[in-house]
Amino acid sequence: MKTTLSIIKADIGSIGGHIKPSQNLLEAVENFLRIEGKNLMNNFYVGHTGDDVALLLSHNEGVGAEKIHKLAWDTFIVGTEVAKKQGLYGAGQDLLKDSFSGNVKGMGPAVAEMEIEERPNEPFLFFAADKTDPGAYNLPLYLSFTDPMHNAGLILSPAMNKGFTFTIMDVSYTEGDRTIELNAPEDLYDIAALLRDNQRFVVESIHSRNNGEIAAVVSTTRLHNIAGKYTGKDDPVMLVRVQGAFPATGEVLSPFSIGHLVAGFMRGSHTGPLMPVKRNSSISFFDGPPVVSCLAFCVHNGTFTEPADAFDHPYWDHIREKVARKATDIREQGFSGAAMLPYSELEYGGIVEKMKKLDTQFRVKG
Ligand code: F6R
Ligand code: MG
Ligand code: MG
Repeated sequence: MKTTLSIIKADIGSIGGHIKPSQNLLEAVENFLRIEGKNLMNNFYVGHTGDDVALLLSHNEGVGAEKIHKLAWDTFIVGTEVAKKQGLYGAGQDLLKDSFSGNVKGMGPAVAEMEIEERPNEPFLFFAADKTDPGAYNLPLYLSFTDPMHNAGLILSPAMNKGFTFTIMDVSYTEGDRTIELNAPEDLYDIAALLRDNQRFVVESIHSRNNGEIAAVVSTTRLHNIAGKYTGKDDPVMLVRVQGAFPATGEVLSPFSIGHLVAGFMRGSHTGPLMPVKRNSSISFFDGPPVVSCLAFCVHNGTFTEPADAFDHPYWDHIREKVARKATDIREQGFSGAAMLPYSELEYGGIVEKMKKLDTQFRVKG
């Protein structure tokens, strides 16, 4: 049976700054989806990570389906009305266009979708990150799909012996989707050469070379490319199929134990370690640290099980402590050097004005 899995997420307002959405907002979103989506989809799940509300939908309409995207857009509009009524901060923040036009891509919300032929049992992972951008998934995906240090199946399982094809997008190109396909393991060094640049090259999807099936898909939106100015970080979502011809769940989770440094954190303009957090976690220290949640599901005939919270385990408490220490370490150097993003990535225009003014005050001696 063919099923489409869609994650569509947006920041439509939150409590006390960019912390988390309100209970009323989440309830309004769930109720609307339940009623209006009844004949359009098979099942849904609503969650939040930091200030972002993510809708996970299962349906039979395929990828990029107008009906489904309109349902998600209308859901976010309803949520925004509640946000406005409650005076939530940043109400409707990620809805960058006035009216819906066919597909939410390019309108603000982030989208990760895949159409799959359901296996008899179909386990998959639903990732949502806040205070960071899509490049945050580059290193974990590289490691879990290509490196036997994290993926023991690459040595042990014949089902993965041909490796994976990475589709990588150049997100600085705004005229359209500029992508390249590279194969692991032959093109490993080329893949690494691109993926080291998290702000420009982003994994869009990964396919198995054993069976040709889609394994992973990431939202690749860059909000400042849509709005032309800072409107919030891109806060990416991702779907990963697991087990069998794909990495085991634990192999996909393994690289998240690194707590690698990513772009985002305060005002989307800093470097901070990515902390794996429990379901429905909020944001705190220095508007961060950057966080990622992971819910594991099975889908069967389009119906989801309840989620299993992949980062809710004592092992990850120990990792969270390590990541908190890393966050404190880098924050100790404030604005200096590697703690802040390069000029081109700073998310607020104010510094551009400041630099322009200062430039006129420079004098060349001699
Ligand atoms: C980062 C983020 C926050 C805000 C900061 C200032 O993604 O959401 O760090 O940038 O709280 O917010 P504004 O500009 O809304 O006052
Ligand atoms: Mg926000
Ligand atoms: Mg956010």
